Amino acid sequence: MIIPAPAALGPGEELGPEGYRLEVRGGRARIDAEGDAGRFYAEQTLRALSLGGGTPPDVTIADRPRFAWRGAMLDVARHFFGVDDVCRVVDHLAAYKLNVLHLHLSDDQGWRLAIDRWPRLAEHGGRSAVGGDPGGFYTQDDYRRIVRYAAERNITVVPEIDTPGHTHAALCAYPELASGRRSEPYTGVEVGFSSLDAHADLTYRFLGDVLAEVAALTPGEFLHIGGDEAHSTSMEDYLAFMARVQPLVAVQGKRLVGWEEIASAPLRTGSVVQYWNTMSERGHDLARAAVAQGARLIMSPGDRVYLDMKYDASTPLGLDWAGHVEVRDSYDWDPATLVDAVGEDAILGVEATVWTETLRTLRDVEAMLFPRLCAVAEVAWTPQARRDWEDFRARVAAQAARWETAGVAYTRSPQIDWP
Ligand code: ACM
Repeated sequence: MIIPAPAALGPGEELGPEGYRLEVRGGRARIDAEGDAGRFYAEQTLRALSLGGGTPPDVTIADRPRFAWRGAMLDVARHFFGVDDVCRVVDHLAAYKLNVLHLHLSDDQGWRLAIDRWPRLAEHGGRSAVGGDPGGFYTQDDYRRIVRYAAERNITVVPEIDTPGHTHAALCAYPELASGRRSEPYTGVEVGFSSLDAHADLTYRFLGDVLAEVAALTPGEFLHIGGDEAHSTSMEDYLAFMARVQPLVAVQGKRLVGWEEIASAPLRTGSVVQYWNTMSERGHDLARAAVAQGARLIMSPGDRVYLDMKYDASTPLGLDWAGHVEVRDSYDWDPATLVDAVGEDAILGVEATVWTETLRTLRDVEAMLFPRLCAVAEVAWTPQARRDWEDFRARVAAQAARWETAGVAYTRSPQIDWP
């Protein structure tokens, strides 16, 4: 459970590397775990039980996660969020036992990581953001700080350099990547108009350099190459691009992650595909195509875990192209029955996303995260048979005290009986 409740592993279930046993009697806690991750999660549970610094109640919990990948994506490209903001988001993920921070580092509107061999990416591409708002970028030391801060909380950073579409900021910084065509920074919110040239050697020199620097800064095993919404890339070019970009990831010793569209191409062994688009059947087909190739899936269904969607029509921020996403929508689904023929074994995990076209501040992001992030975290952690909406509803209400104390912005969804 993410928000503590007595839990017991079934017969024959081992604690495993991330599981823990926590026993509290008379205010004294005893923790058993096989590894650091399990111990860390026991401590998070104990902290949650001691809300407001009080004495934790007597309890026995033996628990371990359902899925290995329990993530959240933050889009720092549409609007930039500095190191302190990102570290605060990391704190939130850690509190709810998530273990992946996926950073969407580049898009049409901005490029957010300094790359030594291509300095104009950040110097030029870092200046813009949606709506003409201030941009920004991480120096490599900034990025290292985020990676270290996350690692201390058992969280792996997965960097995303979105390709071959969503690349206007890079093309604008280096017109030679766009056959010399010069263009202005883009501050709108449309998608699908930019593309790297799938047949230019320079494209792969550029990506080879970028991925090498990103890989060197990233101890985790994954590099995310985007691959979504490449509407200005023909299918022939997309396949040519995928054939040439995958070795650039592999040569860095990393596993490739991409949005569901990459499953239309032949994938190397060990690839991970992120399902997202709930607006058409094509997403299901691509998820099945990924599994048929032996890839594992991350489940990010737009109508469940896209936390930039409005809760309801009255939500001041956010978008609604995937519909309204209330707390119960984020909670009441089973990753293993969402897509026909995509079962438990094919699923590596679950990831919430926070795209930031309309979100400009940390408070904006928090209002979209909470309480829905708790729901997604529990989907990722807790076996389906042990989840119950009414039970969750009551436990999530009790989190309000924690958020009020810590000054966390959250949305008082009418689906929860807040204290
Ligand atoms: C996406 O939402 N374009 C992955």
